[in-house]
Amino acid sequence: MTRNQASREWNSEAYHRLARPQLEWGLKVLDRLPLRGDETVADAGCGSGKVTAKLLERLPRGRVVAMDLSQNMLQTARQHLEPKFPGQVFFIAADLHDIPLDGVLDDIFSTAAFHWVPDHERLFRSLFRALKPGGWLVAQCGGGANLARVRERAIALMSRPEFAPFFAGWQAPTHYEDKIITADRMHRAGFIEVETWLEEAPATLSDRQEYKEFLATVTLHRHVARIPDPAGRERFLDELARQAGADDPPFTLDYWRLNLSGRKPKD
Ligand SMILES: C[S@@+](CC[C@H](N)C(=O)[O-])C[C@H]1O[C@@H](n2cnc3c(N)ncnc32)[C@H](O)[C@@H]1O
Repeated sequence: MTRNQASREWNSEAYHRLARPQLEWGLKVLDRLPLRGDETVADAGCGSGKVTAKLLERLPRGRVVAMDLSQNMLQTARQHLEPKFPGQVFFIAADLHDIPLDGVLDDIFSTAAFHWVPDHERLFRSLFRALKPGGWLVAQCGGGANLARVRERAIALMSRPEFAPFFAGWQAPTHYEDKIITADRMHRAGFIEVETWLEEAPATLSDRQEYKEFLATVTLHRHVARIPDPAGRERFLDELARQAGADDPPFTLDYWRLNLSGRKPKD
């Protein structure tokens, strides 16, 4: 596996087990997607397929195109979804910047993915192209002050002499946009009936162990991957868990979500 491929990868089985907050948010976003039950809908950045399964349950006569850049995520999603939804779910290894579909999707759904996609101008143009006229984009991603507390703590830790050499040239793998800039980008891509808004969505994990595993698998997995030795990774996570243990409530991630929806004009 090349360095470039490795940087796209996730521990998909651990993600599947731990991504409880993402499932809860995903269910609420699904409620905002108007469906008859016979459409072809993409899950853009489907991950391990936990939320995709809930989308499939709402499409008894329809189909889902599950798209992701990570081969691990697609493999886990396939294992979980194919036996339960035979012939109803199709998997595409694709970069959301350049979706290889043109005007074929009735709607696009996406949760917890867009903040991992670097270029949002390209992202929205690509999503717009893939939709049929009249199709909806209904999505949610990290936005605004998402995870500001834990990111600030991680940055302070990364500059300590023990860890600093591993973070030379570091560029944050995620970006958290605001509602006005996102609405402008969606309009520029061609979307109408655009709505964007931010909401606070803190997630409290059950204990220190789950908090550390969650950081290592989800929130800070790219940070942790820069530290070569397992003992160093443990020290990095231990320090963040020590600080989070003193918060009220303890082991709480300060999530903010950016909701967005918009429609491709009918003609
Ligand atoms: C935090 S997971 C969310 C997965 C799922 N939507 C959920 O809510 O559980 C983010 C997903 O976005 C995918 N992703 C990140 N950048 C991507 C890109 N440029 N194109 C396609 N998928 C991407 C990742 O591989 C990962 O599976």
